[in-house]
Amino acid sequence: MPVLDRTPMNTHRTTAEWQAADAAHFLHPFTDFRSLAKKGSRIVTRADNIYLWDSEGHKILDAMSGLWCVNVGYGQKSLVDAATRQMQELPFYNAFFQTATVPAIELAELLAEVTPPQFQHVFFSGSGSEGNDTVVRMVRRYWDLLGQPERQVIISRKNAYHGSTMAGASLGGMSGMHAQGGLPIPGIVHIEQPYWWEHGRPSGMTRDEFGLVAARWLEDKILEVGAGKVAAFIGEPVQGAGGVIVPPATYWPEIQRICDQYGILLVSDEVICGFGRTGRWFGCETMGTRPDLMTFAKGVTSGYVPLGGVMVGDRVAKVLIERGGEFTHGYTYSGHPVACAVALANIRLMRELKLVEHVHDDVGPYLAQQYRTLLDHPLVGDAETCGLMGAILLVKDKTRGTPFPDAVDIGMVCRGHCFGNGLIMRAVGDRMIIAPPLVITRAQIDEMVALIRRCLDLTLADATRGGWL
Ligand SMILES: Cc1ncc(COP(=O)(O)O)c(C=O)c1O
Repeated sequence: MPVLDRTPMNTHRTTAEWQAADAAHFLHPFTDFRSLAKKGSRIVTRADNIYLWDSEGHKILDAMSGLWCVNVGYGQKSLVDAATRQMQELPFYNAFFQTATVPAIELAELLAEVTPPQFQHVFFSGSGSEGNDTVVRMVRRYWDLLGQPERQVIISRKNAYHGSTMAGASLGGMSGMHAQGGLPIPGIVHIEQPYWWEHGRPSGMTRDEFGLVAARWLEDKILEVGAGKVAAFIGEPVQGAGGVIVPPATYWPEIQRICDQYGILLVSDEVICGFGRTGRWFGCETMGTRPDLMTFAKGVTSGYVPLGGVMVGDRVAKVLIERGGEFTHGYTYSGHPVACAVALANIRLMRELKLVEHVHDDVGPYLAQQYRTLLDHPLVGDAETCGLMGAILLVKDKTRGTPFPDAVDIGMVCRGHCFGNGLIMRAVGDRMIIAPPLVITRAQIDEMVALIRRCLDLTLADATRGGWL
């Protein structure tokens, strides 16, 4: 394990005591409660820049930015100060009673500035999942107001992740989530994802040819459902939780063309891709689309406090405002003043540090270059990046691109080595994924890639020993 870096904080109880209290009372998200209780959680106690420390004093390079959110890195004083000031001045007031708070107005104004020009309005939520619930309510309301209430169906993609509320999980295409709780809710259908390794490579298509084929699955679905019944298409510019699936360059322009042709709304879920992750302020700018609605969360506050929302394009805003009446939807924390104050400080800091340019011109291309060097590793079938998101595909036989059999959970083996070697890298099936804080430097990318290589070597040694190759 990496060296003890400093005296850990919050250790008035031992790690074992924290783990016992955790197991006794805290039900974690997306967790097998019983097996975690047996194993014990890792207790994270503090963080700085791109590093975390646990209750045992281990230093860990956080290549996942918390959960795709700590874009400006940990320990940014201006965000802390903004929260403190706002809490002292006005910790809460709502936006229901024909009232508004100063940070919420200022943030709405600033978001209109940093998002593409069609976005002049925002609807705030507390999270990305709530933002996507708002999307479902809003697109259906839009078509109702236009006198086309039969346009109800929202098309999404298999293996997409759009959150964990009833609507978010329904929009998402995770079969494991749909298996619990009677999902998806009515009026949401899914097409296949643009994952070349799953659909394109086996049939011998180039990535670009496959991108067009995959986009046209949307057209097939529109025709199957009936063009007059389709309200919207939603997608992440790059699927994050699904395994950092970077679509072929031909995919999104063709999706845009199809949405335009059938007049359906395009929704870009920017909860991960927004706020600089792909090397532009928003993923739709990297992919070349003009969405009508855009969900955001995470990077808007760099995860320091919860905040989400939906950017509402002029096409939709005009109808909601001019034909509207009351839109019977909202959350207690829509436009929470502390969250908005932190978001303002976060976006201002991103501008001051020129973080989007840093990703676009410097560390994004550098990460791509360093990731390509991993392609010489016997386990690595593919290594791709988009801005500061990256994925490595682990394969059994790289010349043939043969995957490991289901019985070998190679991703979890690799993830185990990452934990043991001071690196947070996430496993999604056989894809190892990263999304480090945008403040990462070239030297830190070298450090991260060296750690990744070490963990790949250890995984390879296990695979050799286990006779999995
Ligand atoms: C693309 C996308 N949409 C929505 C969500 C849900 O956001 P939250 O967890 O804030 O509800 C996530 C979370 O990871 C996400 O990746």
